[in-house]
Amino acid sequence: MNGIRIAPSILAWNLGELEKAVEISVKGGADQVHLDVIDGHFAPNITFGPGTVRALRPLTDLKFDTHLMIENPQAYVEKFLDAGSDLISVHAEVLDGPRFDELYRTVRARGKEVGIAIKPQTQLPGWALERLDKISTLVVMTVNPGFSGQKMDMSVMPKLQKIGEVVEDRGGGADIEIDGGVEPENVREVVKRGGNVLVAGAGVYAKKDPVRAISVLREKAESVRRQ
Ligand code: DX5
Ligand code: ZN
Repeated sequence: MNGIRIAPSILAWNLGELEKAVEISVKGGADQVHLDVIDGHFAPNITFGPGTVRALRPLTDLKFDTHLMIENPQAYVEKFLDAGSDLISVHAEVLDGPRFDELYRTVRARGKEVGIAIKPQTQLPGWALERLDKISTLVVMTVNPGFSGQKMDMSVMPKLQKIGEVVEDRGGGADIEIDGGVEPENVREVVKRGGNVLVAGAGVYAKKDPVRAISVLREKAESVRRQ
């Protein structure tokens, strides 16, 4: 089982001062910075693109965990690699095996990591299961893509449980990233089912002390692991 990692989602901060959001992640000891890219087609919001990733890149060496909620990831993946993304997660809903393979080759040729993301109602497709050993991260969304600050959808838990078991059995070593509505109160539910990377937007940036909120999530997750 991979170690606990905390990934603040800067979408939850004031988009006019994203440098500050990254600074908070760094100060709080986050493991990676989660960057939510939404194109207004795949999900009902428009956030930011490679230009923003590039502008933030000099601020930190932390892993840039780029979650592409876009309909045509093939067309943009190189732009995000050029901008400094370290992990690029693409949605299973807009890909199939051959298209994923092409994208995978592009990312791996640059030495970066690939993840596969699924929406709350999506089951992991067969082609993705067959490629589990290739990906570094499986992003299990626990809210519908679009916005920060939604409540975690607990109906995803049986699927997460199965995914946790499959990843454990195959020993592929992929991180299981939980994305959506993560708060100290539900960390136990996702960590006990195998989630190890906790994305938190509001769970960090809407707190009074966001720097401290990062260690609160970490301590909670580590304590579940110790039990
Ligand atoms: C939703 C995004 C999430 C979101 C997380 O479209 O993929 O990463 O910003 O924010 P919270 O933790 O507030 O749900
Ligand atoms: Zn996300």
